[in-house]
Parts: sequence; C-alpha cells; structure tokens
Amino acid sequence: MNFQEVESVKQSLELGSHRLVDFLPFLFQDFKEIGSNTGFMLELIEQMGRGEPEKRVLDLCCGKGATLITLARHFKWTGIGVDVVDDFIQQAQIEAVTKGVRKETAFIRADLSEFLRANTEKFDVIVFPAATNILGDTVESLNILGEHIKDDGCVIVESDYKSHGFNIGLGLELTKNMDDYIADSILHAARKIVWKQSILVEVYQRDTQWLDKRVKELLPRQPEIKRELEQFIKNRHEHLQHYKDNEIARASWLLIKKI
Ligand SMILES: C[S@@+](CC[C@H](N)C(=O)[O-])C[C@H]1O[C@@H](n2cnc3c(N)ncnc32)[C@H](O)[C@@H]1O
Repeated sequence: MNFQEVESVKQSLELGSHRLVDFLPFLFQDFKEIGSNTGFMLELIEQMGRGEPEKRVLDLCCGKGATLITLARHFKWTGIGVDVVDDFIQQAQIEAVTKGVRKETAFIRADLSEFLRANTEKFDVIVFPAATNILGDTVESLNILGEHIKDDGCVIVESDYKSHGFNIGLGLELTKNMDDYIADSILHAARKIVWKQSILVEVYQRDTQWLDKRVKELLPRQPEIKRELEQFIKNRHEHLQHYKDNEIARASWLLIKKI
C-alpha cells in the first residue's frame, strides 16, 4: 500500500496510527461486517421499491464483502467489491464461495479512487461508507459517485453526524451534517434511516470488545506498538461514550440524481 492508501485505511478504521495497518488481519479477525449495517440498506432499497433482480452494484470499501454478498443473495444482484486491504479481499472471496455467490460477485484489491478512475461501467447501486476522504471532501466524493451510476441509479451512504452542535474533532468533519453535504452535491436524499441509538451503541460496543481482546493478545507480542494499540482502544472507548451520550448519531441515506 502506498502512503495515501495507508492514510485512507487508517482514517476509515479509526486506527489513529499508520503503524497498526500491518496488524489489521489480526485485529479485525472477528469481524464480518466492519461498521456498516447492511440491514438498513436492505430496508432503504425495499422501501424505495428498488429491489428488482439483475441489478449491478459496486460496493466501495467493501471490507470482507458482507454488504455485496448479502445484496447478491437477497436481490439476485451481481456486482463488484473494492477494498485496498488484501486480507479483507481474500476473506470476501472465501465468504462469497461459502455463501454461494462466487459467480455473482467479483472482489478486487484496489484503491477506490484508482478503481473509479479506470471504471467505465455505470452501476445501478453504489454503496459507500463515507469513511474516507480519498475522493476529496464529502461533496466532491458524492459528485464523483454520481458520475458512476445510471441516470435512475442510486448511491447508498452511511455516516456519523453530530446530534447537537457538538464537534469532537475525529479527523472527519462533523461540524456540518451529511444532509448539508448532500444538499450541496449533485445527489438528492430520496430516503434516510436514522439508526436506533441502542443498535448503534450495541454494535459499536461489541466491536470494541472484540478489538479489546485482540489488542490484549497482541500487546505482549508487539511491545513496540504498545502506545498505538492503547491509544486505538482509548479512542474507541471515547467514541463509544459519545454514542452512549447521544452526542453522535449515525444514519444511512439512499441518494438519487437531482432532476
Ligand atoms: C469502515 S470499513 C467498512 C467496510 C465494509 N463496508 C463493512 O462494513 O464491512 C472501511 C473500509 O474501507 C477500506 N478502505 C479505506 N480506504 C480505502 C481506499 N482508499 N480504497 C479502498 N478501500 C479503502 C478499508 O480497508 C476498510 O475495509
């Protein structure tokens, strides 16, 4: 991975330090879905009556492929998953075989900006967790994604946002809400689901417990990254507290092109 890719992965997984990137396979070994909630995406698609079969989907930052595999199975769609972490792509390919959608899915290890630069296909659906600014700021990212969907296609995004005038300086700009960015882009929010705060807390807490356990196992073996590992877990706990205190919320949006 080059410097930009490492920075992007660090940001998207809230690692805090680029030195943890080499340890992702170990740290995230318990995860299938890494932060996304595919259940809400299914709801958005079904609520909008967009679940017809044979659609083409692009899952950007697909991690271990949980979203694309679920969409392929549920709607009989086909598609491409892109992630820059080799181990995640390998896990996605294995999972696609296990779940019986090997032929329907292709998983590619690539930086998403490189992938999009070379891409000529227009997709019915693009999934983007909005967890990296590798494409530019949020408005620029949405505009670029809008160019890769069909005229009647959609983009599904997920994002944290501050609940009430609260900025914790996570590196991602939370002073403006995703709704403001969407309004400034070429896309329009056709539907939005605000995650139930209890679900958000429950999932983030479970994920943090998994990471806690793996960090404790790694610490005696990798003392040279002790500070980075401890800071990573400390940040997770602080973030969890913000969710518990209702200071940060998360939502999923289905976006279509503005007419
Ligand atoms: C929060 S995770 C979401 C993964 C997946 N959507 C899920 O929930 O299982 C963010 C993912 O973005 C990937 N990523 C970060 N920067 C990337 C880039 N520049 N190109 C491709 N993938 C990237 C990371 O490797 C990570 O798997």
